[in-house]
Amino acid sequence: MQQNVVEVENLKHTYDNKKYVLEGISFEVKKGEVFGLLGRNGAGKTTTIKILTTLILPTSGKVNILGYDVRKDGLKIRSRIGLVQQLPSIEFTTVEKNLDIYGMLWGLNKKTRKEKIEELLEIFDLKNLRKKDAIDLSGGERRRLQIAREFMHDMDILFLDEPTVGLDVIMRRNLLNYIKKMVNKGLTIVFTTHMLEEAEYLCDRIAVIDKGKIVAIDTLDNLKIKYGGKRAVEFKIKNINLNDIKEKLNINHDNIKIVDDKLIILTENPYDTVEMVIDKIKQSNGKIEWLNIRDKTLEDVFLNVIGEENGIS
Ligand SMILES: Nc1ncnc2c1ncn2[C@@H]1O[C@H](COP(=O)(O)OP(=O)(O)O)[C@@H](O)[C@H]1O
Ligand SMILES: [Mg+2]
Repeated sequence: MQQNVVEVENLKHTYDNKKYVLEGISFEVKKGEVFGLLGRNGAGKTTTIKILTTLILPTSGKVNILGYDVRKDGLKIRSRIGLVQQLPSIEFTTVEKNLDIYGMLWGLNKKTRKEKIEELLEIFDLKNLRKKDAIDLSGGERRRLQIAREFMHDMDILFLDEPTVGLDVIMRRNLLNYIKKMVNKGLTIVFTTHMLEEAEYLCDRIAVIDKGKIVAIDTLDNLKIKYGGKRAVEFKIKNINLNDIKEKLNINHDNIKIVDDKLIILTENPYDTVEMVIDKIKQSNGKIEWLNIRDKTLEDVFLNVIGEENGIS
């Protein structure tokens, strides 16, 4: 059995003793897993990360990290985790020196620090900025340094709070790929994002959090099955009037549309639908020019679980 490195049970948090920003959330993360906390602004993602990394104490509930209680063993936990916070904090010195100081804080010897620094400057495209003062970096460059710095040391779990905000497309992809590489070496990742495609690219499991509650939690595939809703099957057909075929198909009005020169059908069972439509088209001597079954995306899941409560659908 895989070991749980994060255990959260009925976690509640209030900043002002009035409003609860976390209303009792529970989840586990297994060793080696990439776990994504996905939610809109203000959902409670940063609060959760701050509690898990012992920056703030929870109001109530159980939070164990690597078997240690966040209320009692903050130091032990902090020595074995990495954290990239949402808001960058940077020392007043050069890029290279920043990395070096961080390595020293973690007790790395000079040779190891030197090797690590070269590797990270390369990966995070900071080589020609190495002598620049960190304070003079642009937002995206600063973000890169902040993330690179965290990889100076070994750790069991890395927490990343919206790490790719402010990075360009290429840097974002580099970072995600580097994270994947570290996961292959055994690192566990807990990260937050409001970007669906990012969660989709990286996560083994996702918890969708909304207004302090987990509204869905599962593997990406299962979420798509459970909450992905109907799929769209699209046809382009020759030799036949689309309205005629639409009439002949016994499909509920809401689930069939003609858009431009395409017939679009929404269905829970795309393959059965395709078979049925092909039969009808053949009977009417029509010919299919093109057909497409649109994949379910995490966006479908997100809109389904979050949309209901917020009046989007
Ligand atoms: N230090 C704080 N004091 C009071 N309220 C806070 C504080 N930090 C966050 N909040 C509130 O808690 C809620 C959740 O915030 P946060 O965890 O930062 O959400 P997210 O990271 O998902 O955008 C928001 O309503 C936010 O305004
Ligand atoms: Mg946040």
